[in-house]
Amino acid sequence: MVPLNAMSDDKPHSAGSVSHGDTSERVGMEVIRERGLEPEDLREKLIDAIGAEFTTYYYYTNLRMHLAGHEDYKEITEDARLEDRAHFELVAPRVYELGGALPNDIRDFADRASCPDAEVPTPMDDEGGFDTHNLDAEGVLEVLLEAERCAIRTWSEVCDMTQGKDPRTYDMASRILQEEIEHEAWFVELLSMERDGEINPAGHFIRGEPGDAPLSTNRRFNDSA
Ligand SMILES: [Fe+2]
Ligand SMILES: [Fe+2]
Repeated sequence: MVPLNAMSDDKPHSAGSVSHGDTSERVGMEVIRERGLEPEDLREKLIDAIGAEFTTYYYYTNLRMHLAGHEDYKEITEDARLEDRAHFELVAPRVYELGGALPNDIRDFADRASCPDAEVPTPMDDEGGFDTHNLDAEGVLEVLLEAERCAIRTWSEVCDMTQGKDPRTYDMASRILQEEIEHEAWFVELLSMERDGEINPAGHFIRGEPGDAPLSTNRRFNDSA
């Protein structure tokens, strides 16, 4: 009687397309490819997407600064700002797991962001500040709202790409998407009242801590976010 090979019969996943001990390839990428998604395409899409999270974190700093006189708006913008940083932090390691890297030059990173720059909607003046004569909360809230909408479109696309193919990226994108949808609702509520005098509830009160990121934070990266 020929003895059965216990390794191959009982442990069907003990070997696959990547050779034993080979560190030049990753099973974590090959399983995605086997399911019909090119992991290289996905990771480049993720770099673009977190480029937008990172730049939006920066731009929201300026937008929040220019909501003077609206402490409630500032507080909500701060939640959205810190949560964008959390989104960047959540997905950045995934880029490396997929064999990629963040650009060495931050300018390259900003340029490939998948959403437009969320600039304060007024020019800078000659003294290095902003010309605030025609700047109001309505204008700032419109920029914030459209930035959230771009984020929703971006993470929805990542969910579509990864559903049924890459559960790890799908889980991250889905958690970020849920927070982006919340952010849109916050700014719909604020802009509706500020611009149109309309009550358009978001169903939101306040995060427990600024930038709580209830769905997208795996672990705290410092005390402020
Ligand atoms: Fe975000
Ligand atoms: Fe957001």
